[in-house]
Amino acid sequence: MPATCVIGLQWGDEAKGKIVDLLTAQFDVVVRYQGGANAGHTVVVGDQTYKLHHVPSGILNPGVMNVVGPGVVVNPATLLKEIQTLLDRQIPIGSNMLLSDRAHVVFPWHIVEDQALNESTADGENIGTTLRGIGPCYRDKVGRSHAFRLGDLYRADFREKVARVVDAKKTLLSGWKNARVESLDAAAIHAEYHGYAERLRPFVGDSTAYLLDAVEAGKRVLFEGAQGSLLDVDHGTYPFVTGSNSSGVGVSAGSGVPGRWIQKVIGVAKAYTTRVGGGPFPTELHDETGMRIRELGREYGTTTGRPRRCGWFDAVAVRYTARLSGIDVISLMMMDVLSHLPEIKVCVAYDLDGQRIHHFPSHVDDLRRVVPIYETIPGWCQDVTGAKTAADLPAGARAYLARIAELVGRPVAIASVGPGRAQTIMME
Ligand code: IMP
Repeated sequence: MPATCVIGLQWGDEAKGKIVDLLTAQFDVVVRYQGGANAGHTVVVGDQTYKLHHVPSGILNPGVMNVVGPGVVVNPATLLKEIQTLLDRQIPIGSNMLLSDRAHVVFPWHIVEDQALNESTADGENIGTTLRGIGPCYRDKVGRSHAFRLGDLYRADFREKVARVVDAKKTLLSGWKNARVESLDAAAIHAEYHGYAERLRPFVGDSTAYLLDAVEAGKRVLFEGAQGSLLDVDHGTYPFVTGSNSSGVGVSAGSGVPGRWIQKVIGVAKAYTTRVGGGPFPTELHDETGMRIRELGREYGTTTGRPRRCGWFDAVAVRYTARLSGIDVISLMMMDVLSHLPEIKVCVAYDLDGQRIHHFPSHVDDLRRVVPIYETIPGWCQDVTGAKTAADLPAGARAYLARIAELVGRPVAIASVGPGRAQTIMME
């Protein structure tokens, strides 16, 4: 049975966790394959809200296997806290979770680096990271000499390697402004991480072998993307991106499962757009409407609590990411938020230096200069939170979904009208 992927089509926070949670009952395995504690997946089950960072959203469905693949960067302290919070809420975690021994580990020096870079960068140039050490950990992964994979935490030379890397980091970072290297103590870090490693030991194994066996045995596998395609390190709004391949192209590299097993890709987008942190955002609203969307949509970061920047749906950007991530269908989220607006705009093209363009520019300098060309769509101004089928939606909301599908070039298969599992409309 081939695999399915759920991928964000904007700058993250598209409510992918809700869609994964809804689908998991039909799957045997749910896989996270990139990102780390920077991700914040909110899943609402009944009157309970769960906020997940590393743990795949499948954990809330009994009987589903949850895999954290080699492409994820794991912060063991955060992960253990997450596991404990779930256990405290009677969510069983044990043999239903497997952490790749190839996944890289976030250490305190990564957080020191992330903070130092953040504090030393001028406003317009600041990526505005989540300060979780994500970029520095991926940098060390590529650099190789100072990296630790989960499996390394169990090896005889772990203590000696921590001492060597702390020495090297202190030397390298001593020239950096705002790098608080004095807090790095090799013995203390080794003791702390040795403790984490022991607590995580039951979960750590060869997830690549497990997943290859799973797909070859016909198991149903669901890949859960973190962040969104526009934050992809190669294909997003570089350098204002995250450190991993967060578009559909990252699934195989981050999991070890070849593309030939992937049969369906669901692209998740909000009915408007949000972005956290720095970087260009052509349809951003700096007015009352932007603030209204933020309040109505409770647009504050799950991981950092930062207010999200809000704006209109950008069909140029989403058409690009829909193609890049190879999506089959769109899941359009937060339709209920737009119910409150008398008039809705959708960006259908950009004006770049007087030329109308339909492609998403590859350089941020061009993206900063584009002026969105909007189409105005009348709002439906009617509560949709109780809608169960497409027929329950006001004609205006149906027209909006149809126009988005047309502009993006893919059908809208799912429309979400509220945070609950039941507030989801299957359009087909
Ligand atoms: P980093 O991933 O912490 O390095 O942050 C890089 C950029 O990605 C920043 O603009 C963050 O705000 C953004 N980012 C990272 N993770 C998420 C997420 O889960 N949702 C939305 N934005 C994110």
